[in-house]
Amino acid sequence: MPTAESLTIREPDDWHLHLRDDDMLALTADFSARQFARAIIMPNLVPPVTTIAGAEAYRERILRVLPAGRSFTPLMTAYLTDQIDAEEVGSGHERGVFTACKLYPAGATTNSDAGVTDIRNIQPVLERMQAIGMPLLVHGEVTSPDIDIFDREAVFLEQVLAPTLRDFPELKVVLEHITTEDSVQFVQEAGTNLAATITPHHLRIDRNALFEGGMRPHAYCLPVAKRRHHRTALRRAAVSGSPKFFLGTDSAPHPRHEKESACGCAGIFCAPAALESYALTFDEEGALDKLEGFASEFGPRFYGLPLNDGTVTLQRESYEMPETVTGGGLSVVPFHAGETLTWRAAPRGEL
Ligand code: DOR
Ligand code: ZN
Repeated sequence: MPTAESLTIREPDDWHLHLRDDDMLALTADFSARQFARAIIMPNLVPPVTTIAGAEAYRERILRVLPAGRSFTPLMTAYLTDQIDAEEVGSGHERGVFTACKLYPAGATTNSDAGVTDIRNIQPVLERMQAIGMPLLVHGEVTSPDIDIFDREAVFLEQVLAPTLRDFPELKVVLEHITTEDSVQFVQEAGTNLAATITPHHLRIDRNALFEGGMRPHAYCLPVAKRRHHRTALRRAAVSGSPKFFLGTDSAPHPRHEKESACGCAGIFCAPAALESYALTFDEEGALDKLEGFASEFGPRFYGLPLNDGTVTLQRESYEMPETVTGGGLSVVPFHAGETLTWRAAPRGEL
């Protein structure tokens, strides 16, 4: 079979993205905006985004740092807390400000201290979300220190997600950044109201990447990468053509010195070559024809949003990913740093 030299697909969206604020926002936002028409923006700022006014102000700050002429739609999310006001969240969705709500179990990951301590504390919000068709985006890990870190996602399915789906059978739920075969199977077997996102890095690394010749903080994210057979299951799901699995990069930049420290933070900055990284994986799987559905169709269909009209073209081309991305006094190490990539996406839109 001849190998394709270029691939044109409908413009994609990123259904899970951290853009941060201030200098980090200014440094990182256009890496995503030049590849994706829309992105679901994570609300785990300090303090988190919990109000309509907070989300509107953050959306403005995002748009302000983009180059003039770049069209990009940030889709804002509300950070669920034990005290979150169902009315604020519900009316924020009805007014088109909040696309979805994000559930961080308290203590599960970066800036999750204000998260939900027990899912029972947010029942009224879930009722309201189910009634109005507002999606719940889930960081699916239990937080008990007694549960092994490599088991936290699987235990979450059983202890939190299954009962929640039983109690709210119509609630739209996205299980974010899945890392296990258990999650793939759980999502496949659930109703059409449950879908999952898969990151570029979980399709490429397994847990050995964290210890290759020494400790590798830039391969550390949460949920942490698992054994190889889990990666294999994620790859199969991504290229399966099932509309239940779609693109969400979880690009999560941290300053280099905060990753390379005695207590390095979780997060992989994959935005600089996110689409290219997915293309590399789909190419390796002999499934480039499945990239468009995964990147550009299944996400908007699940969210009930229109598909994008434009296209983006990827060319087969070799180039090296820099060791760092710098600006505004910050230095961030990207996913694939120092590696040769084989696909390059043309930037979106005229500038
Ligand atoms: O690795 C991660 N980084 N996982 C998350 O869930 C949060 C993210 C971040 O905000 O840095
Ligand atoms: Zn995330």
